[in-house]
Amino acid sequence: MSRLYRGRQIILGRVALGVLCVAVSASCSEVERRHDEQQSISSLTSDSRHPIPLSPSAEKEHRAVMLQHLETIQVIVNALVDEDYELARGLTELHLGFFMHRLAKASQPSENFPPAYQELAAAHNAAAEELARIIPTRDMKQILPQFNNVLKACVACHLEYTVREQS
Ligand code: HEC
Repeated sequence: MSRLYRGRQIILGRVALGVLCVAVSASCSEVERRHDEQQSISSLTSDSRHPIPLSPSAEKEHRAVMLQHLETIQVIVNALVDEDYELARGLTELHLGFFMHRLAKASQPSENFPPAYQELAAAHNAAAEELARIIPTRDMKQILPQFNNVLKACVACHLEYTVREQS
């Protein structure tokens, strides 16, 4: 697909959304609200996140763990797409074990993670645990909302904390 074509599609999509919004103004505010919610991270220009001071090596490790999380999420979704529920459950448990290890490390006095960060990490663990429990139902109507809860737990922490220096 050419870039121009894609650009046109986006513009057409915007126009269509605009028309739709005029037609159904009630759901329009809902669309706008969701859009605002989605932009809540990108609009963090006046950064109100709490900085966690980490040594360069700890910051590097933290980043590697995070990238691994995202990758795991993708592989879990892939397994669900393939309807390989056993693999999806196994990966979720593995992900959880990995995160538990991180959490245990983060609560060591040598690390600088504040208790509230650890609570957010624990909430993420609880959500992933629940997801692993629900996957064997093979019922996407139950799996998806729980998957959403896991992702919400990622986002909740990202809205609160940064490991970057504040300028
Ligand atoms: C308890 C807190 C917490 C949880 C839970 C959490 N993250 Fe993070 N994540 C962070 C912090 C802090 C950063 C660093 C943000 C910054 O300063 O750039 C980060 C950064 C990232 C990054 C960017 C890495 C980079 O290259 O800079 C990705 C990707 C990411 N997280 C994915 C995830 C995913 C996916 C989940 C859920 C499965 C998740 N995170 C859950 C705290 C968390």
